[in-house]
Amino acid sequence: MNYSKIIGTGSYAPEQIVTNHDLEQRVNTNDAWIQSRTGIRQRHVRAEQQKTSDLALIAAQQALHSAGIEANQLDLILVATTTPDMIFPGTACILQAKLGIDTGVMAFDLQAVCTGFVYALSVADQFIRQGTVRTALVVGAETFTNLLDWTDRNTCVLFGDGAGAVVLQAAPQPGLHSTHLHANGRYVDLLSVPGFVCGGQVTGSPMVQMDGAAVFKFAVKVLDQVCREALTANHCRVDEVDWFIPHQANIRIIEATAHKLGLSMDRVIVTVDRHGNTSAASIPLALDVALRDGRVQPGHKVLLAAVGGGFTWGAALLTV
Ligand code: UT7
Repeated sequence: MNYSKIIGTGSYAPEQIVTNHDLEQRVNTNDAWIQSRTGIRQRHVRAEQQKTSDLALIAAQQALHSAGIEANQLDLILVATTTPDMIFPGTACILQAKLGIDTGVMAFDLQAVCTGFVYALSVADQFIRQGTVRTALVVGAETFTNLLDWTDRNTCVLFGDGAGAVVLQAAPQPGLHSTHLHANGRYVDLLSVPGFVCGGQVTGSPMVQMDGAAVFKFAVKVLDQVCREALTANHCRVDEVDWFIPHQANIRIIEATAHKLGLSMDRVIVTVDRHGNTSAASIPLALDVALRDGRVQPGHKVLLAAVGGGFTWGAALLTV
């Protein structure tokens, strides 16, 4: 039986940093409120010419380099994004071209908003377990600030841009122990960008609409549930988890989830303070940061969990 294992990671956050103090100039907010309610100090924002595929490219090149493989060795390119370069073709195809891959391997996007990376990891894992793919590039990349109304203090302070990537390869041992995915479309209206393009016009709002308090409550409930589901499925106790890497939306959601799980915060990777919420990019960005700074080490057991628009939510348990 094939398993899959992460053999390389990479990430990229655009050079331009927007601090909470910068946002005080744009909307009626302040650094103290943003930090105390969200844990965010700053976020990275794309340069004018940068598209999602450009962020993804840098993260992907780093991941390929750390895996020690060439782009042409990939059998699958999967990009989780809510902010594709264009309506079509998919950002994965654009990334494939930018990586110079001409081998005809499959490339497609996956849309599960902030849970996108966990969903994409699961899809790539299924292909590898099934034996049709040996090596996959799985990217979470977002230019989420494209979707922000910079005059709406309820949303504009929360999000940022970034990309993270992993190379997943067939292995005799897991690697990825299991993934657990869920969705409930009854909650579509609580977090959405409802606009759509028709006849050359955008109908409905192309900006993030959110009931923050409802999202918060739902997130704390399902993150705990799905983490327990992943642990139970693998007969793994919470004290056997070396690191918890949750979706980086809000430090209070992260702390509440860790508390419910009985995990102390010194085993939780937190990057929301410097990146804000980068949607599908947040988990692979945080994973790469923690691998590079030496906190996450080979052999460590890592629990990933995310929740986002849809609602979608999911978890993955892996050995790095
Ligand atoms: O990937 C999932 C993406 N979404 C999320 O993660 C969002 C989850 N929700 C949250 O993170 C929190 O609900 C927020 C950070 C969005 C809001 O925090 P909260 O503690 O739920 O605050 P609130 O919405 O209850 O608002 C409290 C007050 C309100 O004023 P009044 O009505 O009490 O006078 C807001 O108008 O804070 C006000 N407020 C702000 N004040 C300063 C809302 N946004 C801001 C702001 N600066 N940026």
